[in-house]
Amino acid sequence: MTINERAPEGDRSFDAVRDRLSMPLVEAMETQRAVRKVLPDEVDDAIVLRCIELALKAPTGSNGQNWEFIVVKDPEIKAEFAAQYRRAWRLYGSLGHRLARGDETMKKVLGAVQWQVDNFEQIPVLVVPCLVGPQRFYPGSLARSSHYGSIYPSVQNLLLAARAMGLGASLITLPLWSGYKARKILNLPATVQPCCIVPMGWPRGRYGPTTRKPVSKVVHLDSYGNRAFGDSGA
Ligand SMILES: Cc1cc2nc3c(=O)[nH]c(=O)nc-3n(C[C@H](O)[C@H](O)[C@H](O)COP(=O)(O)O)c2cc1C
Repeated sequence: MTINERAPEGDRSFDAVRDRLSMPLVEAMETQRAVRKVLPDEVDDAIVLRCIELALKAPTGSNGQNWEFIVVKDPEIKAEFAAQYRRAWRLYGSLGHRLARGDETMKKVLGAVQWQVDNFEQIPVLVVPCLVGPQRFYPGSLARSSHYGSIYPSVQNLLLAARAMGLGASLITLPLWSGYKARKILNLPATVQPCCIVPMGWPRGRYGPTTRKPVSKVVHLDSYGNRAFGDSGA
């Protein structure tokens, strides 16, 4: 699937899309992006499970594999998260609109988020990646980084697998603004921490391209500020 190719139409069973996982890695990486507008059409469980299976190939601290994934399809549970998302978006969205004044790209992103907020119940599947273990206070940034670093590589694998099979997906956190509420909605024990949500469905639009800073703007050689790879610092 190229950058502007639409999602598969017709047969969207796992058997029909599984071979798409052989997409070149570079193509999946270059075209994976936050696809928020998706169709309400069902997604084969086998596709979701394969995405999660590939997510499990990611590293974790000490190979702890201290993760669990909740697949949400129940409309009532989705509605509860939709209400949470709307609550957070009322505050965050109005701030975003104020900051985006005059920035057409940002306005487009905010429009897509608004669509997702308004249509959250219609999204066929939500995957909630969770970390398992005692809830500790992480005093140092290294401890915090190691903690959350044990879930996000798996989330990126999940996003890439979804993209390769033609699914639209995004990584979101706003519906989890209240850890207490999120835990209650999913009936999670105190030892299981929901980290983000990946809403998934067949995309309404097209993939990519993404806008990112050039590598020369973000790379330093040996010492911060040494832009040896080409950026003059502008
Ligand atoms: C930690 C994290 C939290 C995010 N939370 C949200 C969210 O709550 N809602 C949303 O619409 N997007 C959320 N995003 C998605 C980002 O806005 C998105 O990845 C970024 O704009 C780049 O989009 P692109 O890949 O389409 O260019 C989140 C991304 C990350 C990494």
